[in-house]
Amino acid sequence: MENTIERIYSDAMDALAAATDSDSINQLSIQYLGRKGRITHFLRNISRLPVEQRPQAGKRANEIKRLLEEKFDHALASLSEKTKPVADRIDVSLPGLAMDIGACHPITQITNRICNIFSQMGFDVVQGPEVETDYYNFEALNIPKNHPARDMQDTFYMSENVVLRTHTSPTQPRVMEKRQPPVRIIAPGKVYRCDSDLTHTPMFHQVEGLLVDRYVSFSDLKGVLTAFIHQMFDDQTTLRFRPSFFPFTEPSAEVDIRCVICRGKGCRVCSRTGWIEILGSGMVHPAVLENVEYDTSRYTGFAFGMGVERIAMLKFGIDDIRRYFDNDSRFLSQF
Ligand code: PHE
Repeated sequence: MENTIERIYSDAMDALAAATDSDSINQLSIQYLGRKGRITHFLRNISRLPVEQRPQAGKRANEIKRLLEEKFDHALASLSEKTKPVADRIDVSLPGLAMDIGACHPITQITNRICNIFSQMGFDVVQGPEVETDYYNFEALNIPKNHPARDMQDTFYMSENVVLRTHTSPTQPRVMEKRQPPVRIIAPGKVYRCDSDLTHTPMFHQVEGLLVDRYVSFSDLKGVLTAFIHQMFDDQTTLRFRPSFFPFTEPSAEVDIRCVICRGKGCRVCSRTGWIEILGSGMVHPAVLENVEYDTSRYTGFAFGMGVERIAMLKFGIDDIRRYFDNDSRFLSQF
């Protein structure tokens, strides 16, 4: 007896698995659950069973009846879901998945700003390789073999004659080798030094500038850099040129700006001096021009190099250089 009802159930399930449209599912429903259906028939004939089997058989038959009703309904529902047009299947009233909107890294923003200001003054934006030869990083720039800047402590050596560039200055001889004056370029990029603390990261960013032409003088350098600082910060920002030394410029100067945080009164950012150093500069050393076979009796030039992190810290009021490279979106999304 029990066999019979289980048999009906498994027949129904097999038939359902084979049914592919709503007509055949409805048909099955009639065949099994209808007035003359197999389950109905079974229930009607329970009275013919031995008395002790009746309760159990009746209970099981009713269970299977309910189960089949559910299965048929479910099969019909999922069939109609599949054949509905896409627009009806999607609940447009549900909240959407919010997408995070990306933005340029603060260092990229400031780099772009610097390049835009110089582009407007007629400088071309160029780029050089980060893995550089000893020749362009040092030799062509008049940095002799025993110069402290070549010390193993500062420079990442890839091999004896290949380094990670320690500054963007190697773009100077690279460009001059290919172009004849007038040369006016700006070269942004990553540089590397074996150094890491509160104010230094082993990788940081510089923007190099170079202008070579006839009759270029130190006052041209002062004029261009003053115009740049006034556009980058504001035209109330004073700057000063402090004598300095670089092997590839002569004379050389470091440029300080009046602290933009305290306006020169003295604060933590400027170490109470009222001034902040932001770039190195000078007149291109004749030895550098000779290395690229420029006629030094005809041409002179100036060059400068600035640290992007430092300028971005001043623009945005950031006090720890390492924040730039933590990749914490809570920090980055503020810019
Ligand atoms: N290359 C120098 C540095 O990294 C900066 C500089 C560039 C100085 C060009 C003078 C001229 O410190």
